[in-house]
Amino acid sequence: ARDPFIENLIGRMTLEEKAGQLSIYSDQTRFDYQRINPASDAVTREQTLDLIAKGRITALFNGIGVAGGRELQKTAVERSRLGIPLIFAGDIIHGMRTVFPIPLGEAASFDPDLAMRTARASAVEMSALGIHWTFAPVVDIARDERWGRVAEAAGEDTYLGSLLAAARVRGFQGSSLKNDDSVLACPKHFAAYGGVMGGMEYSDVDIPETTLRQVHLPPFQAAFEAGALSTMSSFNTIAGVPSTGNHHLLTDILRGEWKFRGLVVSDYTSDEELIAHGYAADGPDAARKAITAGCDISMQSDFYNKYLPDLVRSGALDVAVVDEAVRRVLYVKKMLGLFENPYRSLNEEREKRDIRTPATVALARESARRSVVLLKNEKSLLPLPKSGKKIALIGPFGADRDHLFGPWTIFPDRTAVVSLEQGLRAALSDSSLLTVVAGSGIEEPLAGGIDAAVAAAKSADVVVLAIGEGANMSGEAQARVEIVVPPPQQALAEAVAAVGKPVVVLLRHGRALALTGAVRNADAIMATWFLGSETGHAMADLLFGDASPSGRLPVSFPQASGQEPFFYDHGPTGRAQTSDDASFKSRYREVTNEALYPFGYGLTYGSVSYGATAVDMPELSWDGTVTVSAVIANTGKRAIHEVAQLYICDTVASLTQPVRVLKGIRHIDLAPGESKTVTFTLSRHDLAFVNASLKWEAEPGLFKVWVAPSSTAGTFAQFRLLPGIGIKPKRV
Ligand code: IFM
Repeated sequence: ARDPFIENLIGRMTLEEKAGQLSIYSDQTRFDYQRINPASDAVTREQTLDLIAKGRITALFNGIGVAGGRELQKTAVERSRLGIPLIFAGDIIHGMRTVFPIPLGEAASFDPDLAMRTARASAVEMSALGIHWTFAPVVDIARDERWGRVAEAAGEDTYLGSLLAAARVRGFQGSSLKNDDSVLACPKHFAAYGGVMGGMEYSDVDIPETTLRQVHLPPFQAAFEAGALSTMSSFNTIAGVPSTGNHHLLTDILRGEWKFRGLVVSDYTSDEELIAHGYAADGPDAARKAITAGCDISMQSDFYNKYLPDLVRSGALDVAVVDEAVRRVLYVKKMLGLFENPYRSLNEEREKRDIRTPATVALARESARRSVVLLKNEKSLLPLPKSGKKIALIGPFGADRDHLFGPWTIFPDRTAVVSLEQGLRAALSDSSLLTVVAGSGIEEPLAGGIDAAVAAAKSADVVVLAIGEGANMSGEAQARVEIVVPPPQQALAEAVAAVGKPVVVLLRHGRALALTGAVRNADAIMATWFLGSETGHAMADLLFGDASPSGRLPVSFPQASGQEPFFYDHGPTGRAQTSDDASFKSRYREVTNEALYPFGYGLTYGSVSYGATAVDMPELSWDGTVTVSAVIANTGKRAIHEVAQLYICDTVASLTQPVRVLKGIRHIDLAPGESKTVTFTLSRHDLAFVNASLKWEAEPGLFKVWVAPSSTAGTFAQFRLLPGIGIKPKRV
């Protein structure tokens, strides 16, 4: 049923005002957008206020501050003819003033509850600074680690990605979108952006629709089911059609099949880019194709303001298409409570009170700790003692305070950060036990750096090597050819390792890395991503054993860059590689097909053992459930937090299915000597895949299941899914 309030507004709008409700711009009045994007058109403060007063702007993004926000909103409400309020948006991906780990890092916690809590805390800070709408979460499934935006999303797995997508939406949007501290979520980038060929930014995605639906779309659907009322169309094409002009995606699937009631915003000028893609002839054609496909709001290109009114007047575009887009935008504004209270989230008291509260800072430390993955710990080198051992902290990230956040952190409090050096010094019994030497720049050598590093290593008992990618090496348009530790730092690692002291490598990175030489051979390795404001404290907690690492890899670490795209849930081949025979097999000449560290992998300081996977019955009836279990024991001397994972394989199907795919996660705490049985319940719905008719359906037949500590470990059990009435059994 149509909303009379919204219909009344639409009925009173001119075509220009309608186009205005469909146009968003970066907020030049409060943020120098040209500083981060020199390509953007500068619009002055006066021009912006004038356009708002004329009803030509629906929302502004990446401007913050309560006083400025009030002035802009007052202009919309009091000076524009219809008084329709603005939405203030922002790219707040993993924290506002307090920065949490990059989403990829946080995904390593395998914990949706943690993701929900950090999203909630971010929402409180951003709404305190006047933001109603965040362009997050990024829910793109990343299949190639060369792609730069791997850092912003949840990794390579659809099941984990879907859980985290829904959790982040719940966190951002809170119990009601109308709450002053809730922000509208915008799961992005719709769709399959993480499937770009060769990891190349803004390029083509060439996948069958079955893969689109089975791998890339579920996190979006989960986010919408969790209540997200907006999404952003992606820059890429899918099978030759740019997402922003993709009617099948934005209308048939999103609105038709999923009944999505929210709005679609283009990515930055992605409607204009329909021309460069060779999908539209000129500006009017691009605007017409984008809005007809289902893209409601044009970001930054000005194409809707420029072209929609004349397109309608000339008869090239039905006004009903424009009205439908306006209807969606006004619906979202209404759901945000902006008509009742246009000055929501513009509260001077909250602006001071709700920023960097002790609870938020403590959460930043907890989430950072839980994001770290211990990849290797030979001879139990870790944890280190807090006294009695001299530590050389070597590498460009030891004292660094500029590369703690990673990509898309526009408004952080840069003064309130804890570097590795600060965190370690604060935790040590005697801070003079720590020597800090950079040894190298991030991508350039440092004059005399290696000599100083070698000298420091010689006079220390243990080396902590803080190396990896700079914050600007991942993120948008930061694709890499070789996903390695930059060569000058690799040289530093080789020189330091040659000294012969035990080496702990702390990797900083926005994607999986291919580790080689002294880095790969170090005694201990931790994947630490970009951990945010509390990096140093969290790392000290882990390095000195006040907490045990519990993170699991959300992306596979390949042995070599050339293995990308690399993901664990690939299909089987007719000629799988075996250890004894390499001829005419699916393989590379140089390395085996395994990951160096697979998806789901991660160690703790304790030790754990998994009993055999068991099923409670060999046959699963069509409408029944089967219980899968394993006994997990803490066989070490420390308390541990274990992340048990359930994988399945559909052994024979009408379309070949992954060799393994994640279907369940359980978090358990185990005291030394304790064991627990973890159980998972599966029904045929968990066994479904997207078949040739593009339907999620299970097929009767034999399934393998693993309860395992990673995607390559564990023992399997099997059961047979029996056909339902009228369901044809497969020939097995
Ligand atoms: O939200 C972003 C998007 O992820 C990449 N292009 C720019 C947008 C707005 O800043």
